[in-house]
Amino acid sequence: MKRTVALLCLLVLVAGGFSFAEDKEADPKHELKQAFARGKELFADESLGTNGMSCNSCHAEGGTKAGKMGDMEIPPFAHVSKKYPMYFKMAGKVMTLDQVINFCVTTPMAGTALAWDDQRLADLAAYIAWVNVPKGEKGKSAEKEKGQEKQKDE
Ligand code: HEC
Repeated sequence: MKRTVALLCLLVLVAGGFSFAEDKEADPKHELKQAFARGKELFADESLGTNGMSCNSCHAEGGTKAGKMGDMEIPPFAHVSKKYPMYFKMAGKVMTLDQVINFCVTTPMAGTALAWDDQRLADLAAYIAWVNVPKGEKGKSAEKEKGQEKQKDE
């Protein structure tokens, strides 16, 4: 009898839990849009680093135009979400997109790495993965893309 009661209680709890989750269910498209918008803002946020730079300082106009770091040309973002994980030259090893983001936070921006469960990391990744780079701008990184393809084939 005790076991039946306990089982019933458990069932009620589980069922209650599910309906609670359902009440809170969000619109996935809307959530992604919100993350993208927050990521875009973070892209211009100097407080991620400690030297007055934001992502925009090097990845021009939100990464939609070619930027510069000293003499080095930085191509606009293109197919970033499909490319990673791949070899990231600046760090000299294979990295995921999140790791590349944190590499840029900690190295050129001298900031503190974002924790894996920090929403800002997902927001930045959402922005970078889905930002619309005009075709003409993408062309500028075509050679680089080809190079990456070759790397994959070898
Ligand atoms: C001081 C300059 C500088 C700053 C500031 C900077 N980056 Fe970078 N970032 C680079 C350079 C250089 C590369 C390498 C470009 C290459 O591989 O040709 C790079 C590469 C990347 C890539 C890989 C792009 C690709 O197409 O493979 C991502 C993603 C990225 N950065 C995100 C960020 C984010 C997010 C921020 C802000 C938190 C940021 N970066 C800030 C210089 C910078």
